[in-house]
Parts: sequence; C-alpha cells; structure tokens
Amino acid sequence: MNSSTPPQSRQPRSESFVHPFLEAAHGRAPARPPVWIMRQAGRYLPDYRRVRKLFPSFLDFCRSPEHVAEVTVQPVDQIGVDAAILFSDILVLLPPMGLNLEFVEGEGPVVHNPIRDAAAIEALPGGDVNVDLNYVFQGIQLTLRDLAGYVPLIGFAGGPFTVASYMVEGGSSKELAKLKGLMFSNPKAYHMLLEKLATITGAYLCEQIRQGVDAVTIMDSWAGYLSPSDYREFVFPHTRSVIAHVRSQFPKTPLIHYANGAPTLLGDFVNLGADVVGLDWRVELPQAFKEHPAQTFQGNLDPCYLFAPPEKIVAKVHEMKAIAGNRPHIWNLGHGILPTTPVENARAFVQAVHGEI
Ligand code: CP3
Repeated sequence: MNSSTPPQSRQPRSESFVHPFLEAAHGRAPARPPVWIMRQAGRYLPDYRRVRKLFPSFLDFCRSPEHVAEVTVQPVDQIGVDAAILFSDILVLLPPMGLNLEFVEGEGPVVHNPIRDAAAIEALPGGDVNVDLNYVFQGIQLTLRDLAGYVPLIGFAGGPFTVASYMVEGGSSKELAKLKGLMFSNPKAYHMLLEKLATITGAYLCEQIRQGVDAVTIMDSWAGYLSPSDYREFVFPHTRSVIAHVRSQFPKTPLIHYANGAPTLLGDFVNLGADVVGLDWRVELPQAFKEHPAQTFQGNLDPCYLFAPPEKIVAKVHEMKAIAGNRPHIWNLGHGILPTTPVENARAFVQAVHGEI
C-alpha cells in the first residue's frame, strides 16, 4: 500500500448485515441506496496509476492476481462504493480463442489477427476458460480474501456482439462496418461466431460465480449500433442464451445487463430476463420507471456530470433520488467514469447517493 492511500474504512460486518447492492439487485427495497461506478478501478485514481506503471502491458497487469485484487479494492476504500467489480477486461476472452490481442498505449485494444470470414470463424478454437483464464479466478480468490465480505464482488463479461466487434474490426471502431458487413452479407457465419461467443461467455460467467462472485454483469456496450429490428434478429437471441445458461446453473445470482447508446432498445433489454437493466444517460428515468414498473434499473448519471462542481453533483443526485423514490435502484453512471474525473467528485457522487451530503 502506498502511503498516500487513505486509511482503510472497511470494518467487519455483523452477521445480520444485508448488502444494499444485493437487496436492490434482487428487486427488494434496500435499507440505503447502493452505488457503484462503471470502470471504478481505473485511471482517475492516483493509486491505480501507480500500480498500472508496474506493467508495460495491460494484459500482464490483468494476469497478476495480487495486483488485480489491490486495484479492485481501491475504490471501495477510497470512494466508498457498495460493490467491487473485478479488475479485468471484457477482451480477456480473445487470447483463449486464438486471437493475438494487445492493448496499445494511447490507442486501446488491437487484434493483430482479426477474423473476417466463415473459414476463420469455423476454425476458431473454443477455448477452455478453466485453464486459459485461471488467472482471473485467482484474482477473484484474492479479492474475496481482501474484501472479507465487506461489499459484494461483481464479475463480468462482454456481450457476444460487443466482444465480436473487437474480433472482427481488429480494435475499436466508429462504425462497426466490418462486423455489420459480415452480419448483413453472411448471416450464417456471423451467427456461428456469436454462438461460439455465447457458449464461452456463459461458461466464463458460470465459473466466476462458482469461484465466489456475488453478481455478474454482461456489458454489451455497442448494442446501440443496431436498429431495433436488427438487434432483435442478430443480438438478442445470443445474449438471451448467455443469460438463460447462467440462470439455469445459478438461479439466485443477480445478473445485470448493460448497453450503451440504445434508448430505443430498452424494452428489448427488459425482455432479456436480467435482474437489473443498466441505463445510460440518454434514457429519462421517469419514463423508464413508468414503462417498466417491475424492472430494477441501474444508472444513469452522465459521466461528464462529474466534471461539475460537487454541489451541482449533489443537487443532481438528489433530484434523481426524488424520481426513484422507494424503488429498488442501483446508482451508477450511465457509462464508465472518465480518466480525467476529479477523485473528490466521484466521492461526492457516492456520498450524495448515500445521503451523507
Ligand atoms: O473498474 C472496472 O470497471 C473493472 C475493469 C474494467 C476494465 N474494462 C478495465 C480497463 C471493465 C469492467 C472493463 C470493461 C470494458 N472493456 C468494456 C465494457 C464497458 C464499457 O466501458 O463500455 C469495453 C468496451 C472494454 C474494452 C476496452 N478496454 C477498451 C476499448 C479499452 C481502451 C480504452 C480505454 O478505456 O482505455 C480498454 C482498456 C482498459 N480496460 C483500461 C482499463 C482500466 C485502460 C487501460 C490502462 O489503464 O492502460
């Protein structure tokens, strides 16, 4: 631990303590509103940047269980969130599937051997998550040891469509032209790819739960690139099959679905059958609450709101809390926290949700 780290605030919980995050995720009104932040272990935290510097390669960092546990717990101690999310990435599934993935400084993920045709898709190795991603499970074990039940641990995987986008595009993309080109020109090959991804993703999430995570999130960040009818034809059945598989193995573990930039798909996301549906800031809370009275949601403050002064953040959160009333709701941003966010503003967000300021 670095000397600049604030003193640990984690105290042992009493036997009867019920975690507000899990209460809300199960659709019950929690004793106090729970909050966590997408990408909460990350570059806006000086202590994260200190650990990050130890590894020239981001993937090597993800493969170091001790350091994974250290940065996973940082936002719990330093920001006061009600859940930890395992430090890893949705793209760790790519190397087990034979893809040569690198995170390039200043550029993001690059796949050096993208797959573009039916033959490459057919030849993809299925990957054995138990062997190839053992380092993730070691990270889960060490994180659970360090958290000692103080807050729940969230595991995660990417949605098959979002992960496929990196495999086919070869990296981040503005249009997803190659993936959507494949989808429209050779739907059979596209569906074969998504089926393979859905199978490995389901196995991966189940193993995370077996290892002890308390909830899982499917992050289908780029689902909003599709029209509603294309989403229904090309993505919904695959995400649905991941959710159905996890449900069949672990009916009691809460499952969160998150997608970005897709307000027109809200009804479809609700139909996927996850316990919690993540919202980005393009969705108005009153409308989502009114249209889906029985659905628990997560979100949805615009991450850029954390660039406003703390008093504005507090006022905005109070306004949103008045809209939610007593509904079970998991507070979060509408997408990942941005690296230039002032730490004290992230803290103000969390404290405002808790009603401490
Ligand atoms: O704190 C947490 O939320 C846990 C860790 C986490 C990371 N990535 C760490 C990370 C999680 C949950 C993710 C998910 C992820 N990764 C998504 C879905 C959620 C979203 O934000 O939409 C996606 C699309 C990715 C793919 C990815 N990983 C990209 C496009 C990039 C480069 C852009 C960027 O943000 O830097 C990454 C790299 C990455 N993943 C970093 C971190 C902390 C930054 C790398 C670094 O520190 O050098």
